[in-house]
Amino acid sequence: MKLGVINVSDRASAGFYEDLPGKAAVALLEEWVTTPFETAYAVIPDEQSQIEAQLRQFADVENCALILTTGGTGPAVRDVTPEATETVCQKMLPGFGELMRATSLKYVPTAILSRQTAGIRRNALIVNLPGKPKAIRECLEAVFPAIPYCIDLIEGPFIEVDSSKIKIFRPSSP
Ligand code: MTE
Repeated sequence: MKLGVINVSDRASAGFYEDLPGKAAVALLEEWVTTPFETAYAVIPDEQSQIEAQLRQFADVENCALILTTGGTGPAVRDVTPEATETVCQKMLPGFGELMRATSLKYVPTAILSRQTAGIRRNALIVNLPGKPKAIRECLEAVFPAIPYCIDLIEGPFIEVDSSKIKIFRPSSP
């Protein structure tokens, strides 16, 4: 199983900032997921065509079951991660963005500035996270309980987790 993390940041990709959001996302996956996995990893600038190409590469060539993006979800001129996500996805899952914003609002009033979303490309689930390292856990903790079942539904690998770290939910069959 392969899981992808893409840190979208002009400054991190130019080496001005350490890649903390991407590292935070990988650390959470390593903490929660017990199914053996490899990580596909990239740090790229806020260029829509580059983000789209990286998402396609991770979904179609690397066969990632889950691709987390960090950053580029806000209203700033260079923020285009949600647009790139919508372009490459065949189906959008607006519930992810709704829940992440609702949860984030408990932490910061500026939560409503994130346009973060999620969607499906082939057998990959793509989820946008904001770029602040602390926001990665705040958002991913909220939506992760539904992620393994979502990946079941798109015929990806069966993902198991450490239930002492994160609780997931799979509806039982009738
Ligand atoms: N969500 C959480 N949980 N915690 C945060 O600190 N920051 C907000 C918002 N969502 C934040 C958050 C802010 S200040 C912005 S501008 C938007 O996410 C977009 O961030 P991004 O452009 O780094 O993706």
